[in-house]
Amino acid sequence: MTWTLVLVLLGVLSAVLFLYTRRTRQRNEPPLDKGRVPWLGHALEFGKDAAKFLTQMKDKHGDIFTVCVAGHYVTVLLDSNCYDAVLADTQSLDLTHYSRLLMDRIFNLQLPNYNPVSERNRVDQYFKGCDLSRLCSSMQYSLKFLMASVNTKNPTEWKKDRLFDFCYSLLFRAGYRTLLGTENNNSAEFTEVYERFRQFDKILPKLARRSANRDELKVASSAQKRLWELLCPNWFLTGTETHSWMQTYLKHLEEQGLDTQTQRRAMLLQLWVTQGNAGPAAFWLLGFLLTHPEALKAVKEELCSLQHRPLDKTENTPVLNSVVNETLRLRAAALITRDVMQDKTVKLSSGQEYVLRHGDRLCIFPFLSPQMDPQIHHQPEKFKFDRFLNSDGTEKSKFCKEGLRMNYGTMPWGAGSNLCPGRDFAVCALKRFVFMILTQFDLELCDCNARMPPVDPNRYGFGMLQPDGDLEIRYRLKKRIA
Ligand code: HEM
Repeated sequence: MTWTLVLVLLGVLSAVLFLYTRRTRQRNEPPLDKGRVPWLGHALEFGKDAAKFLTQMKDKHGDIFTVCVAGHYVTVLLDSNCYDAVLADTQSLDLTHYSRLLMDRIFNLQLPNYNPVSERNRVDQYFKGCDLSRLCSSMQYSLKFLMASVNTKNPTEWKKDRLFDFCYSLLFRAGYRTLLGTENNNSAEFTEVYERFRQFDKILPKLARRSANRDELKVASSAQKRLWELLCPNWFLTGTETHSWMQTYLKHLEEQGLDTQTQRRAMLLQLWVTQGNAGPAAFWLLGFLLTHPEALKAVKEELCSLQHRPLDKTENTPVLNSVVNETLRLRAAALITRDVMQDKTVKLSSGQEYVLRHGDRLCIFPFLSPQMDPQIHHQPEKFKFDRFLNSDGTEKSKFCKEGLRMNYGTMPWGAGSNLCPGRDFAVCALKRFVFMILTQFDLELCDCNARMPPVDPNRYGFGMLQPDGDLEIRYRLKKRIA
């Protein structure tokens, strides 16, 4: 019996080694880097700190290369001028399979009729035109309401907090009210949704990579189960907000004949997609302002000239826009993944052509290029509040690399069919949040020499990065001058 087991194991191992060593680089294929460990390849380095690993690979191989990651061959493309053309070929590059895999791994969700393209058209309609204006006003109203209640006992006394939690909880709560349009005003339940969501969100990258340990799996599973209970479809279907984002989504799920349990799981996915990025973005935005006094001064001067009118789309705020763009350039780091369905030729900006092999995966990482590319951005790791401003103070959108005009200087919202449909709403919410904080509150660092915490390297690939650490702040309502 024992010998049979040993023989079976040896057989499996030899098959893995055979398959691993068999792969060689073919003519016109990108440089191949299998790593030292058979089958596993570069999985550990990739999962631990994708930005560091891919930078090393870029330095070694250039803008395109293929790496082995846990039995898969992944071609990484880092020439941002050809992203759009490559992603447009949806016949050769499929989005569905990998999206389904992540939905299942993270949210235990299987949507039998899931079609990312029609799903996308539906979502795009919601965040445009009149709906967008309505959402922005509703967000402003919710932020105002929540900020008025942050420190009701002694509003003009200093109150201490941690910046990440301060920003995440405010943006999450305001976004929840706006997009979910729930009538449930139970504040304890609302707080529990936020706390459980944070527990789940902390472990999410590990769930996606299947690297969570037993304790983490337990926490994630219990948070997920409680959130499924708390996200009750009936509340959202009877809310006063007749066309809330969640109502529209739930009706769509009902039309597809999905049961209540699947609807709840899908709601958690939507909650994460719509609420998981704005809070962390607000943290980095305020954090960079508080640790860069020259930037804070420039933004305050610009906002002052608006005479405390609410920010809307017509307001001209090039300095604040530049700060938002610079923050997102430094801290938005989504990975775009596709399955290669048939051999496909990719043409780089240099004119050189490479073949992507059928059965491999393609990964695009805008964080490394264009966002952190030193040939596009001087000292890319530094926060420069005026990086997106021309010398005459207008907004800068033209960026070059070795004399070649770049299609994009930054791509925080993804690309192709992965472009974030909520981007205009997110910018509007971030700007209004900063405007309200700076005009209605005195907000400062407890330690005026404090530095920005480093990023948590575990989160590369999952939208906005999160900090490994925090900033202690104190705030109070501004005293009104009679
Ligand atoms: C700074 C904040 C944000 C950033 C950096 C961001 C970025 C992104 C990115 C990169 C994606 C593509 C992810 C992928 O397909 O792999 C995405 C998807 C999405 N985002 Fe955002 N997002 C932000 C805020 C928001 C907000 C506030 C909303 C909601 C109002 C939103 C709604 C969505 C939706 C619904 C999708 C999924 C689209 C689909 O299924 O195709 N995002 N976002």
